Amino acid sequence: MHQFQPYPIELLEINPFTKISNEWMLIAAGDQEKANAMTASWGGFGVLWGKNVAFIFVRKSRYTKEFIDKGSCFSCNFFEKKYLNDLKYFGIVSGRQEDKFKTSGLSVNHKGNIPFVDEANFVCLCKKMAAVPITEANFLVPEIKDKWYSDKEQDNFHTLYIGEIVEVLAR
Ligand SMILES: Cc1cc2nc3c(=O)[nH]c(=O)nc-3n(C[C@H](O)[C@H](O)[C@H](O)COP(=O)(O)O)c2cc1C
Repeated sequence: MHQFQPYPIELLEINPFTKISNEWMLIAAGDQEKANAMTASWGGFGVLWGKNVAFIFVRKSRYTKEFIDKGSCFSCNFFEKKYLNDLKYFGIVSGRQEDKFKTSGLSVNHKGNIPFVDEANFVCLCKKMAAVPITEANFLVPEIKDKWYSDKEQDNFHTLYIGEIVEVLAR
């Protein structure tokens, strides 16, 4: 296991637009007994209800959603570019089919009971503050439904999770 240290959030110098959208992240959730993770390229960081927060968007069908819903925390894990193939794998295969941590080069680490990915170079540990199911009624432009929730993704809406960033870890 790698050595991680708490990193002051005010020293973070990342561009969330390129980091999340182009380089992606793994969202991990679960506990000491069982954890799962999936790739995500939607989300962000900001400030809400007096807290530093991360927000992520997880479709109903994702196995990871079951872990997020069951627990009180999740982690957002960021990687060097050399892990791109692993991130692709975590974004194509579901943990329902196979234990992705057993079949990939990535492994689970824990801070307390919060799972994170040991090969990440920085991690945001998040405590859930809100889970907001997104419904068709929320859309103010019809293109959203047509583009993202048509055909096979019909009814497979995202839930917005807002998590307080309780700690940033770096190695
Ligand atoms: C680049 C990329 C970005 C993705 N972003 C998201 C996302 O933001 N939200 C989401 O629900 N699924 C996203 N996915 C899809 C999930 O990662 C994918 O369905 C995964 O297999 C789910 O795994 P699970 O069933 O083990 O949770 C993305 C996939 C890729 C390849």
